[in-house]
Amino acid sequence: MEHWTAYWQATTSLNSFAEGEAATGYQGELAHFWQTQLADLPNDALIADLGTGNGALALLLAEQRLLQQKEWRILALDAAAIRPQAGLAQQPRYAELAATIRFYPQIAMEQLPFARKSMDLLVSQFALEYSKLELSLAEAVRVLKPGGRLVAIMHSHETALAKDSALALSVMTALNAGNGILDRIQQLLQLVTHLYAQQQLPEHNAGFIQANRQLLTQVKQYQQQLSVAELDWFQYLFAPFAALLFQPKAENNQQFLLLRQQLNYYRQRLADQQAACITPLRRQLIDQLMQQLGWQTSWQELRVERELFGLSLTSFAC
Ligand SMILES: C[S@@+](CC[C@H](N)C(=O)[O-])C[C@H]1O[C@@H](n2cnc3c(N)ncnc32)[C@H](O)[C@@H]1O
Repeated sequence: MEHWTAYWQATTSLNSFAEGEAATGYQGELAHFWQTQLADLPNDALIADLGTGNGALALLLAEQRLLQQKEWRILALDAAAIRPQAGLAQQPRYAELAATIRFYPQIAMEQLPFARKSMDLLVSQFALEYSKLELSLAEAVRVLKPGGRLVAIMHSHETALAKDSALALSVMTALNAGNGILDRIQQLLQLVTHLYAQQQLPEHNAGFIQANRQLLTQVKQYQQQLSVAELDWFQYLFAPFAALLFQPKAENNQQFLLLRQQLNYYRQRLADQQAACITPLRRQLIDQLMQQLGWQTSWQELRVERELFGLSLTSFAC
């Protein structure tokens, strides 16, 4: 979970893969989908958001509670050490809403801290599918009241996002491989530090010049194998590392380690996402698990601006 904790503690975004994007939260067709799920809830309903991250969905629920003048209690948990109130402190509209939500950091949905038959609605967006489904689905069934529902939007392996993430992941994996481009950059930066300690300038050192040329050749050879989309990812991911070599400084070594760790966390989040994607086989598994628990499932494709965005699962007792 360290990779999720690091992400949520560093970002002020509400979105879970928001590198380079605005903190937009959930709007438009997606917000509409969730609004319709709230239509028949009792005034004092207890709702929990599973795998809440920075609370994007829980905030949407809190906004609706305000608009509809309801008294729902909203709980939101995540296995990572989330701190949504800290992250949202600079965004007064969200900060105020976040204060009305009870957040549970470092709580896994495989072991919910809620009483049996206590909840009216469990929701999850791009999170339930990251859990151990055999455990989390049984927990959902345990804590929901008779007549309660589980509604989750999940990644589908067919979305443009999932396909693009697969490309990003393959580029990250290649960069990170043993003797790959990042290892070479690290060796070069270590050489720079060593040369500075000896009061030598890297650009005057034959070893540095040769290693630099070799790296350039390696980069060119790798780039030639890439599709246009992969090349875009490569350029985006490689640029901050390349910048460390353009102006070699002794302290760039530390900066490199930091960047590499961030890249590693990003890679792990994407790997989680790929493993979480709903394929026909995983959908069948969910149907079977719920059926064994005596619950029925219904699935829907969710489109945003006509593009497939995810799959929604609704489940309730037969
Ligand atoms: C892709 S993010 C989605 C976050 C949020 N729902 C959103 O829409 O922005 C997936 C989240 O699920 C959380 N997560 C993964 N496995 C979990 C589990 N077993 N129990 C609780 N949270 C989990 C991760 O820590 C991460 O914050």
